[in-house]
Amino acid sequence: MANTYGIVSSGIISRSLFKQLSIGKCQSAFKSRRFAVSSSSYLASEPQGPKVVTAEVPGPKSVSLKNELSQLQNSAAVQLFIDYSQSYGNYIRDVDGNTYLDVYNQISSLPLGYNHPAMINAVTNPANLEAFVNRPALGILPPSNFVEKLNTTLMSIAPPGLKEIQTMACGSCSNENAYKAVCFWYRNKERGGKPPTQQELDSCMINQLPGAPDLSILSFMGGFHGRTFGALATTHSKPIHKLDVPSFDWPIAHFPKYKYPLEEHTKENAAEDAKSLAHVEELIEQYKKKRPVAGLIVEPIQAEGGDNHASDDYFRKLRQLCLKKGVAFICDEVQTGGGPTGKFWAHEHWGLDVPPDVVTFSKKMLTGGYYYREEFRPKEGYRVFNTWLGDPSKMVLLQEVVKVVKEQNLLKNMEMTGKHLMSGLMDTQKRHSSKLFNVRGRGTFTAMDFVNPETRDKAIKLLHKRGIHCGGSGKQTLRIRTALIFELKHVDIFLDRLNQVLAEGV
Ligand SMILES: Cc1ncc(COP(=O)(O)O)c(C=O)c1O
Repeated sequence: MANTYGIVSSGIISRSLFKQLSIGKCQSAFKSRRFAVSSSSYLASEPQGPKVVTAEVPGPKSVSLKNELSQLQNSAAVQLFIDYSQSYGNYIRDVDGNTYLDVYNQISSLPLGYNHPAMINAVTNPANLEAFVNRPALGILPPSNFVEKLNTTLMSIAPPGLKEIQTMACGSCSNENAYKAVCFWYRNKERGGKPPTQQELDSCMINQLPGAPDLSILSFMGGFHGRTFGALATTHSKPIHKLDVPSFDWPIAHFPKYKYPLEEHTKENAAEDAKSLAHVEELIEQYKKKRPVAGLIVEPIQAEGGDNHASDDYFRKLRQLCLKKGVAFICDEVQTGGGPTGKFWAHEHWGLDVPPDVVTFSKKMLTGGYYYREEFRPKEGYRVFNTWLGDPSKMVLLQEVVKVVKEQNLLKNMEMTGKHLMSGLMDTQKRHSSKLFNVRGRGTFTAMDFVNPETRDKAIKLLHKRGIHCGGSGKQTLRIRTALIFELKHVDIFLDRLNQVLAEGV
């Protein structure tokens, strides 16, 4: 029954046992095993390191499954087929038996790695079954423990100053609904709190003024906020995301483009901050007449766009600018949120006087949603609404994540591990300065550039072959997105493989 990593003997269920799971039948088996191991000894059962056993990556089974999938859908983006029952901690195992150290984590969305005992325990705990079996329409029939779950999960880690919460299913719909909440807020201000006119009610039904007002959301070049219509209108990372989709004429501002190392380019980078802030102000003024800017959305680190950073000072000034102009400040923490930067929320590093108006999240938080300041609560029900509005079963899992993060001080772990990673990357950069540069990061949320997209792609391929699963962002960036359980020893393995690739292959 035990799998390769001795998972059963160390207290985590095996695949065959998992398959048998049905209440009553296997409950006693679980009871005897479920609580046998604390999550603190979780990593002791990890593989010793990556191991690639096929001549090529992807191996033959992955290729064959991809061919089958291609009969059903476009599978061009599929890299590998994974055996999740054999993936553990920071390691994933593909269907060909290759084991990779995962520094990509399902596009930055796994907080505790694979098959964490706390998560398994939560899923197999009969007390939690109702949350997995019955998916409620949260906006109308929330479960009896919904308020308690919100308080013990999302509200227990709420960004400072934000006291209200709306759950959603994914990152795109979190942003999409945040934009709506911002527009409601803006129009309510314009109406002076009065109810809408009949003309507004009639005209909104045919997408016309004044009920469907010409408002806009300002975003930044290089930003990524999702792929639904509104969110996509504010996404500007790659044409492939946007091509052929009708969009809004909304303002797009220049985002600072920094030169590295930062300490050698303080003047140029400060000028970039100033250029961006001036552009934002200019656009807000320019759009005042034709399409007033109701809100601005920004990522603390432009992630999909290539890990573009800006200074804490820049963000403080951007926040102030929004206050001055009466524009809502939306901070998209879908990728940066949940701990990888060493704080639950990356914007906490900035030291803001006034919190963001809205903070959106998903990925490592397992459920989507957004926190908001009180004035962004719509007056009526059904205005920010959909059938599911999230998923309480994800909050059962999130509850375990939050507990483990706090008990095991995983934010501190991200800070310490991040320092080790950054210093190793800096050394690597020194050694291979003609191939790799612009090392940057916060916590383990790190990245580096290669000379061109082809070289970056080749590096990713060679790293896969050496048992590192990683991914790119932007044009020629390799990004590191570890789980919160990534430790110094994992950093050393990653750096070792990266240096091999740079020395031999790229
Ligand atoms: C910053 C940011 N916002 C929004 C999204 C969209 O999230 P989702 O893919 O869950 O719709 C992403 C996804 O990568 C993201 O990185």
